[in-house]
Amino acid sequence: MAVDLTVRNAVVVDGTGAPAFPADVAVDAGRIVAVGNAPGGRVEVDARGKVLAPGFVDTHTHDDGALLAHPHLRFKLAQGCTTLVVGNCGFSPYPASGAAGGLWGREAAEIEDLAAFREAVHAARPACNAVALVGHNALRTAAVGEERRPPTGAEQARMRGWVEAAMAQGACGMSTGLIYRPGRWAETEEVVDLAGPVGAAGGVYATHMRNEGDRLLVAVEEALRIGRESGCGVHISHHKAAGRPNWGRVAASLALVDEANAAGADVTLDVYPYTAGSGRMIEYFDLERPDADLAAVIRLASCPAFPAYEGRMLVDVAGETGEELPALVRRILTAPRGDRTICIHFIIAEADIETNLRHPRMMIGSDGIPDLAGRPHPRLYGTMPRVLGEYVRERAVLPLEEAVRRMTSLSCERFGLAERGTVAEGAWADLVVFDATTVRDTATYDDPQQEPEGIDLVVVNGQVAYDHGRHTGVGAGRLLRYRDASLP
Ligand code: ZN
Ligand code: CU
Repeated sequence: MAVDLTVRNAVVVDGTGAPAFPADVAVDAGRIVAVGNAPGGRVEVDARGKVLAPGFVDTHTHDDGALLAHPHLRFKLAQGCTTLVVGNCGFSPYPASGAAGGLWGREAAEIEDLAAFREAVHAARPACNAVALVGHNALRTAAVGEERRPPTGAEQARMRGWVEAAMAQGACGMSTGLIYRPGRWAETEEVVDLAGPVGAAGGVYATHMRNEGDRLLVAVEEALRIGRESGCGVHISHHKAAGRPNWGRVAASLALVDEANAAGADVTLDVYPYTAGSGRMIEYFDLERPDADLAAVIRLASCPAFPAYEGRMLVDVAGETGEELPALVRRILTAPRGDRTICIHFIIAEADIETNLRHPRMMIGSDGIPDLAGRPHPRLYGTMPRVLGEYVRERAVLPLEEAVRRMTSLSCERFGLAERGTVAEGAWADLVVFDATTVRDTATYDDPQQEPEGIDLVVVNGQVAYDHGRHTGVGAGRLLRYRDASLP
């Protein structure tokens, strides 16, 4: 009897890190049913000369709102991504508070908890799977508001209750964004306490650390302590050493991670393959005294107050207006809707990206911000193909099999994506077929909304979602439950 889909003559890179091998792969009822000699399929794909791998997991996304507002997720699907980790940097669309609606758009304004979010996501029929972290900033906003003070005992208990509920509803863990408001006002002890229920459920503490610059190592120590005292695995998000004076320090930071792992901790990391970060500009400046050095490496991604500045370096704008950089920063951020400005800041050393990519516990996370109306950082569209094209093929920083392992089985293990992340009989059929000799990112800072080349086919839960540049419109993605192989 014919199965749903058979891919013939592929070079299988199975996600475990094992050497590639030739095979046919058959898919039926959402799962891989044969690797090797495959029965005939109702759909047959000839993948001669192409790689077949498990679908990629983007371990660091801000696609919570996009799952609802842009369920086509074409910017992720076209990269070969089949599962997205959402709820990063302390930001999740629940528990409900006025601020969450502002951040995620009207689709997410009324979401009370992960169960309600899952219902909304499934109603939108997204193209990719997702798994969720509950965000500490969201917890704190809902319990304490924007107030700069420690939570009361009752507020702390409320936050802890929300974490327990999220874990019971299938969250993979909790995230923090300790440079952002209001997370930055939390003491370490507050976070340790909230991470308790995560550790009890065997989940992960994912962190945008308190500092990624001159106090990077202190921040790593804090993350490790939170893991130790709460019993959580620790995942360090978008690992970097920001700012020229700190370049090279990722080596010392990785040494701390290695030391902790050797002593029995469970620490992993992710990185994006670009020398620029991106985020809400207002989070990076003290308006009293805007940092001119930071302003000098900033380009505007989206700027509703001054759309003409989008895509431009602040230094170039200042050159035209005759303003000093701090004055320009202040003018942009204090204008109506100026707080919505998203910037791109060139703060990372190219050599540090390579150091990061060589580390065996390093996954790939885009940190893309799906602001499709502006000029988003190209990582939104290019991350996975850029690793495969630039860092694997062109520079040979890591072998293909190892890069695929970090994008698939390692990520699935970390974020509890059960029975996914390998090409093996019985596993869920999240798959990508690509041409390892041509795959590359085409998104640039000037023209970021460009889909990559060399990605042929993407299969999500056994259904073809992307076929040679064509988005099929099949919304087979689910918001999965941590370590639960069934489809919710
Ligand atoms: Zn972050
Ligand atoms: Cu982030």
